[in-house]
Amino acid sequence: MASITLTDIVKQYGDGFHAVKGVSLDIADGEFVILVGPSGCGKSTLLRMIVGLEDITSGELKIGGKRMNDKAPRERHLAMVFQNYALYPHLTVFENIAFPLRLQKGQFSEDEIQRKVRLAASTLELEDHLDRKPANLSGGQRQRVAMGRAIVREADAFLFDEPLSNLDAKLRGQMRTEIARMQRRLGTTTVYVTHDQTEAMTLGDRVAVLRKGELQQVASPRGLYEQPVNLFVAGFIGSPPMNFLPGEVKNGRLSLPFADLPLPENLRSRVGDRSLVIVGIRPEHFEDAAVLEDSKREAGVTFETDVDVTEWLGSEQYAYIPFDTHPDVAAKLEELDRDLDGEGMRTQLVVALSSESRVRDGDRATLWFDPAKILVFDPETNENMSRDDAVAQQIDEENEQDRRASLERAQKREQVAAAG
Ligand SMILES: Nc1ncnc2c1ncn2[C@@H]1O[C@H](COP(=O)(O)OP(=O)(O)O)[C@@H](O)[C@H]1O
Ligand SMILES: [Mg+2]
Repeated sequence: MASITLTDIVKQYGDGFHAVKGVSLDIADGEFVILVGPSGCGKSTLLRMIVGLEDITSGELKIGGKRMNDKAPRERHLAMVFQNYALYPHLTVFENIAFPLRLQKGQFSEDEIQRKVRLAASTLELEDHLDRKPANLSGGQRQRVAMGRAIVREADAFLFDEPLSNLDAKLRGQMRTEIARMQRRLGTTTVYVTHDQTEAMTLGDRVAVLRKGELQQVASPRGLYEQPVNLFVAGFIGSPPMNFLPGEVKNGRLSLPFADLPLPENLRSRVGDRSLVIVGIRPEHFEDAAVLEDSKREAGVTFETDVDVTEWLGSEQYAYIPFDTHPDVAAKLEELDRDLDGEGMRTQLVVALSSESRVRDGDRATLWFDPAKILVFDPETNENMSRDDAVAQQIDEENEQDRRASLERAQKREQVAAAG
């Protein structure tokens, strides 16, 4: 097992294209790190440079503290799991898993191969399928065979490139849990690439967000969610996405398309003499004023609005509210949307209300939000002016404690299982 350290890694392809523009990232031994970003942002390129399938243009790659830039893939002791599994159709599950061991001719006895493959198969619950061919397996089972192959190699780290994107939604959810459980059990350093922010948030100890070859932020899922550094991270993380509204600043007040509130105290000096900011409010930070207790309602901001469409989902209800955006931020938000591979829904507010709310399509409703939860962005630099570095650090420290604790629990369970 090993740590992976990237220092100022650059990739310029033969045609001159800069796919990765100086990425630095420290991945601790045993850590599960996700690289996430829209399609084309350089995730696969970065992963392929780590594993050795792509040359590193400049910068340094260390694995377990040793420089690896010029080492062949084989010498890096990493195992890569691809999206299409790369299984051999004519070989059984057993032989597919055994393949990397047989490849190292003479290094393992038949007994050792049997033992290693059976151990991996039991970890992955594949014991009953060892004689079958890949074509007769479900997508999830094939995925596990591909992982089994990575496990028998006893690699120093696992690298995954969008391994679940061929699976249907339900199986994706199952495999996600399975990969997380496996990673904890084995405690193997893992780098996992995905364009799916839900996958990133649910799997990662830490998540690295990439945009056009540049690292935007590396933090715990909660750190990214609550304390994003900029508009891009704020808009990329969360579903439905954060609402962005033009906010006009005048005489210490912040005027939004549907409400007007005092500019929160802690933001006054940071906003300075800007007359226009971009305000971010997550859908779940709104509520139907009618379902709130008086004390809570009075502590927030209420406003009346026309509701266009509602979607009742059982656990909650989404309501869509069109608004007129400010021409000076419209272009900025359109650009952001293109960056995010977005759905172009930036001129309607999406709010997540309690499922008890009786707001329905076409209603005039009184909605509520907590002004302490709003984020304020600089429309020039995209920077989150409301970010609190101390709080962000605290969140990540707690996350690291939780990670260590859960790794210890998983390994204790393994020891108990092995002893019994
Ligand atoms: N061999 C190549 N030559 C030139 N450009 C490439 C090559 N491979 C990938 N790219 C470009 O590099 C960028 C990043 O690609 P990639 O790492 O595959 O993105 P991701 O995995 O995030 O979708 C893309 O714009 C892609 O077109
Ligand atoms: Mg890719």
